[in-house]
Formats: sequence, C-alpha cells, structure tokens
Amino acid sequence: MFHPNANYRVLVVQHVPEQGSRWYIDKRLGVLFTIFMCPVILFCATYMLVFGIFPGISYPKTLAKDVPEVNIHRALVYSMLPNKTANRVLHSNLHRDRSPHNFKIVCYYNFPGGRNSLQVDNIQAYLCTHINIAFASVSNSTIHLEQPQIDTLKKLVDLKNSNKDLKILVSVGGAGNNEGFPEMVLNHANRKRFIRSVIDYVKEYNIDGVDLDWEFPNEEQNHDTAQRVHFTQLLSEFRKSIEHQPNHPFLLTVAVAAPDFIVQNSYDVSYMNEYVDFVNLMSYDYHYFTKETPFTGYNSPLYASENERYYLGTLNINYSSNYWNMMGMDRKKILIGLPTYGHSFRLMNPKNNGLYAPASGYGKLGALGFVDYPVVCQFLNTNRVTPVFDMDTKSPYASKYYEWISFDTQQSLTYKAEYIRDNGFGGAMVYSLNSDDWKAMCKQGKFPLVESVRKVLEGGRTAEENLVGR
Ligand SMILES: *[C@@H]1O[C@H](CO)[C@@H](O)[C@H](O)[C@H]1NC(C)=O
Ligand SMILES: *[C@@H]1O[C@H](CO)[C@@H](O)[C@H](O)[C@H]1NC(C)=O
Ligand SMILES: *[C@@H]1O[C@H](CO)[C@@H](O)[C@H](O)[C@H]1NC(C)=O
Repeated sequence: MFHPNANYRVLVVQHVPEQGSRWYIDKRLGVLFTIFMCPVILFCATYMLVFGIFPGISYPKTLAKDVPEVNIHRALVYSMLPNKTANRVLHSNLHRDRSPHNFKIVCYYNFPGGRNSLQVDNIQAYLCTHINIAFASVSNSTIHLEQPQIDTLKKLVDLKNSNKDLKILVSVGGAGNNEGFPEMVLNHANRKRFIRSVIDYVKEYNIDGVDLDWEFPNEEQNHDTAQRVHFTQLLSEFRKSIEHQPNHPFLLTVAVAAPDFIVQNSYDVSYMNEYVDFVNLMSYDYHYFTKETPFTGYNSPLYASENERYYLGTLNINYSSNYWNMMGMDRKKILIGLPTYGHSFRLMNPKNNGLYAPASGYGKLGALGFVDYPVVCQFLNTNRVTPVFDMDTKSPYASKYYEWISFDTQQSLTYKAEYIRDNGFGGAMVYSLNSDDWKAMCKQGKFPLVESVRKVLEGGRTAEENLVGR
C-alpha cells in the first residue's frame, strides 16, 4: 500500500489545523541537496574568481617588492613641471651611423634584499656587457659599501671568470640617495678624497669602473649653479687621475636625467662629454602618478603620442636622446635607458581607461606604482587582459577595472633596441635585472626583456647560446 508518510515522502504540504498550511523540507533531502550543491557552488565561485566573470579582479599572490622604495624620488622630480622652459630647438641634421659596432648593454643589478630576490648565481655571464651593482653611497667623501654588499660585489666580479669581456662597475647614489654628494664635490680636497677611495676600490675588488648616479646636482634650482660646476670639476679630476695611472684604467660613467629642464639645471653636457666614457640616460619614469600629474601615461615611450604637444611632447626617449646629443654628448656615448618595470595607476573611472585618463593614485600592483615584469605578466594572464599596443609610442598598456598599467614587453623593447641600433647610439642601459623575469615565470625564458634587447644589439644569440658556443 502506498503511504504518503513512508519512503516516498520528500516535499510535502501538511495540513496542520491549528497553524494552517506550511512548507517543510525533509531532512534527507536537505542532506542530498547539500551534497550535490556544495561542489557546484564551489566550482562556480572558483570559476568566476579565476576567469574574472565575477565582478572582481585577481592579483598575483606575490606583489614583488624588489624595487627599492627610494626610486620614487626620481619619478617625483621628473613629474615636476619646469618653471622655465628649456631650449627646445633641436638640430635636424642628426647624423646617422649604421656601421656595425659593438653596442653596450649596461645592466643595473640591485643588491638582493631578501631570500626571494635575485642572487648573483642566477645572472648569466653573457647577458650584459656591463653590470652596474647598485648602490654604493658617499660617506664622508668616500665611496661606501656595507660588508654584505662587498661580499655580493666579489661574487659578481667572479662572473668575469666566465666572460673575460664583462665589465663590473659600482654605481654610487641612486634615486633618493644623494646624501654625501653635495659635501663631497664642494672642494678640491673632498673630491680628491673621493677619487682616491674609488681608485682603492678598483684595485682592491678588481672592478672596472664607477658610475655616478647623483639625482640630481643643483636639483633645488636655487640659482646657485655651484653644484653643477663642482660636479663637472669632479668628472674632470677623475679623468686626470685615470690618465695619470695607465696601469689601472677604469671606466667613468654617469647616470643622467632625461627631462630637459633637469639637464639644463644639473649638467654641463659638452664638458661632461670630454670626461666620461658614456652616460646612462634614465629615459623612464616619464609618466608616474603624483598629485600634480593625476593621469595615466607611459613609463618609457619611444616617441610622443599623437596629441602630445609642448612640454608633454618632450617626455619620450627620442626627444631626450636627441636633446643630449644636441647639448654636446656624442651619440656613441649615449646609452638609452630601458626599464624592465612598469608603472601602475588607479583609475578614477574604469570606463575611462585610455591614455591621460584621470587617476586617483597608484594601482594595487607593485610597490608605490613600480611593478616588476613578472607581476605584470601574471596579472595579464590570470585576468585574461589583452594589452593595447600603441604604435605611436611603441609601448603597451593594459587595464582592468580600476587598475591601469604601463609596462614594457619583448615587443616594445625590440622596437626600442632597433631605434638604438639604427640611430647610432652607444647601446642600451637596462634598469634593472631584478625587475626582469629572471625566474621565467612568464614562460618566455629567463630575463626575457634583457634578451630581447640583446637579440637586436648582438645579432640574435642568447646568453645561453653564447655560453655554449663562445
Ligand atoms: C618651481 O618653483 C617653485 C617655487 O619657487 C618650487 O617650489 C618648485 O620646486 C620649482 N619647480 C621645479 C621643477 O624645480
Ligand atoms: C671623515 O674623514 C676625516 C679625514 O680622514 C676624519 O678626520 C673624520 O674623522 C671622518 N669623519 C667621520 C664621521 O668618519
Ligand atoms: C625624433 O626626434 C627628432 C629630433 O627632435 C625629430 O626631428 C623627429 O621628428 C622625432 N621623431 C619622431 C618620430 O617623433
């Protein structure tokens, strides 16, 4: 006999005279329901989180913090609007030299900060022609490294056993670390003391030179040009000391600003040309979030974009490198800076996400708006974001909801390296090895960005191939 209250009762409307009709769910159905639905709900939630259908955004777990926070100083100074306009007339008779020559690839290597940061063991000896270890400081008018830094330097110098042509330089200063420079350049005695200390380093640690990265001489623009003149004197005295001791030659290079108003304040370019081996042009940080520049923009555009005029039209590699040349620096002595990091911005309105879109702060990616390349590529992959590649500036950008990033890729750096090759410049400077994808997380091999520059400037052989087939 069928009995409604026996095995087949699942969902029943029971008439309870006192309380009226009500629904209730059988306990067994509840258990079944839970067993079936739990995985379904879990699956849907995971799917939405991973593939971004859910109105949210997924960020790489490791928001790398390898870029030292002091780097922000240069980006802040670059973002200032000049008080007076620099001389912007450029000669059009730029000479072009396409004869084959050895291009330099100068790579900055920041001292490792923690366990997860790039160690010397992971740097191939043929990746770069020069490695600048960064940064030493100026202490009491002498070059200064802490003991752990000296240990790292020694390991780096050992790479020369695998590549005898590799040059190792110590870079002094860096963004936000200009303390010690003003006092050191002030008088002949202090400058002499500094030069002496560098020569001691060259001999003691078997390094190939020094890179001066004072950001920046005469920065306050206080109408006192003494700092600029004293800096030039330092370079002149360095050159004399190098000539006076031919048995211990070493390279003298300077990391220099790109925006023209800083160039005019800080450097006597045509004199510098006489004294330095080459300059490392810091042609990046052209656009960065500050309260004065609250809009998106490219970190390191090759050319101006279509609608950029006047001052904005000067914030690109082509303008800066020609400006340095026009001010008196030989083209062969200009090394064009290429970044392996990008900049993130937080959009005011996710729908207004192009170039010069209003921004309210740094993006979540990276530290203080500085984003290492592996973080960029993971972000693009996990969120399935297709970047926009701008052919005017040869630079990509990407956005997702409130996040907006400008960065470089193998493609953009190939264009920029071809520009270096075809316009007679001395080579490329890369900042930095640390922010490239040295762990091959982007599945493009190790150091994919530096390698793309090498492919163009050294004719196709990768660092690995050079090691095998040298
Ligand atoms: C322009 O002048 C103002 C006031 O003298 C100063 O605060 C500012 O730093 C100057 N700008 C630059 C780029 O030096
Ligand atoms: C700086 O160097 C001078 C000259 O050697 C020395 O007399 C002085 O004690 C040093 N000062 C510090 C703070 O090390
Ligand atoms: C590159 O710069 C030079 C010198 O300022 C200028 O004449 C040239 O038009 C620029 N090229 C592009 C594509 O903007």
